[in-house]
Amino acid sequence: MKYLLTGGAGYIGLHVALAIKNSGHDVLLADNFSNSNIDNIKHIKNVLGICLHVEVGDIRSKDFTDKLFKKYQIDAVVHLAGLKSIPESNLKPLQYFDNNISGTINLLRSMKKYSIKKIVFSSSASVYGDPEYLPIDEFHPTRVKNPYARTKLQIEDILGDLTNYDPSWNIVCLRYFNPVGGHDSGLLGDSPRGIPSNLMPYIAAVAANELPILNIYGDDYDTADGTGIRDYIHVMDLADAHLCALEFLESSAQKNFNIFNIGTGYGCSVLEVVSTFEKSTGIKIPFQIMKRRAGDSASCYADVKNAKLFLKWEAKKNLKDMCLSAWAYKKNII
Ligand code: UD1
Repeated sequence: MKYLLTGGAGYIGLHVALAIKNSGHDVLLADNFSNSNIDNIKHIKNVLGICLHVEVGDIRSKDFTDKLFKKYQIDAVVHLAGLKSIPESNLKPLQYFDNNISGTINLLRSMKKYSIKKIVFSSSASVYGDPEYLPIDEFHPTRVKNPYARTKLQIEDILGDLTNYDPSWNIVCLRYFNPVGGHDSGLLGDSPRGIPSNLMPYIAAVAANELPILNIYGDDYDTADGTGIRDYIHVMDLADAHLCALEFLESSAQKNFNIFNIGTGYGCSVLEVVSTFEKSTGIKIPFQIMKRRAGDSASCYADVKNAKLFLKWEAKKNLKDMCLSAWAYKKNII
């Protein structure tokens, strides 16, 4: 099989690409490199000896997406391309709508033209908004709180409608919880540009002495230690979930539109992440308690039984693995 990965050169895309390659299938990456680095592809070739074929372009371009399906024999698509910063989306909503939603529509149009109707879409747990109950299952109401989450939800709606009107489409949406960590090789990981806004890359930057201190946003939440609880998922487990989703698309699925939560099913507090990072790496992480960050909720973790039941997937790696791999990658790039 040959799979097209839009946004395939990004943090998650490259892990998915390697998981697919490892399973004996072929991948084609399409990326505009707006938030990724071509050097990663070169490192993968030099260090791991794995050659990843990339087409450089923007999925909003009709010529570009048509070319992908005309030139290559694609069996299915993993659609990861999209802008993904919540603070940025609040500042530039139209850019997010254009890039994420228009890009998806254009991609789908080309797929239809070339009769490729299988797609795994990279969605986000941010579509749930503030949890009404925990763990969050896929029936939890969706209530988006920012333009980024809006784009994810609108794309899911478009994909759902598409399968209603044309049942020959077969679509899986994966709602990621909090992906962290890096590849076993230490070669890949999360390296946001500028000061990280997510917890794990921030901790890694403090460990590397690039930042002086971790700001913990609130210790007065209604949680055991007062800090926010999230469902952190190792990016390699997340990558495997895509593989299972692609296999699921090939199987005789009962429904042709499915949504699955992808997390571990366990919530960890900020202080637990900090202490696990310290214990596993031996590096002290200085921190200070700040006021709550706007938009954050106290607790958010997934009910993952549907992924287990239907995708035959479950997370295998624990928080220690996540911390160690995040640090292994950080050490490699400093
Ligand atoms: C964020 C995104 C989410 C995305 C996820 C990817 C927001 C509001 N949501 O989720 O859409 O899928 O990243 O990983 O941006 N924290 C600190 N100090 C920091 C950074 C974070 O205390 O410097 C705390 C937060 O308050 C939160 C937890 O760590 O309790 C996790 O935060 P973060 O890594 O930013 O993820 P989310 O906000 O859950």
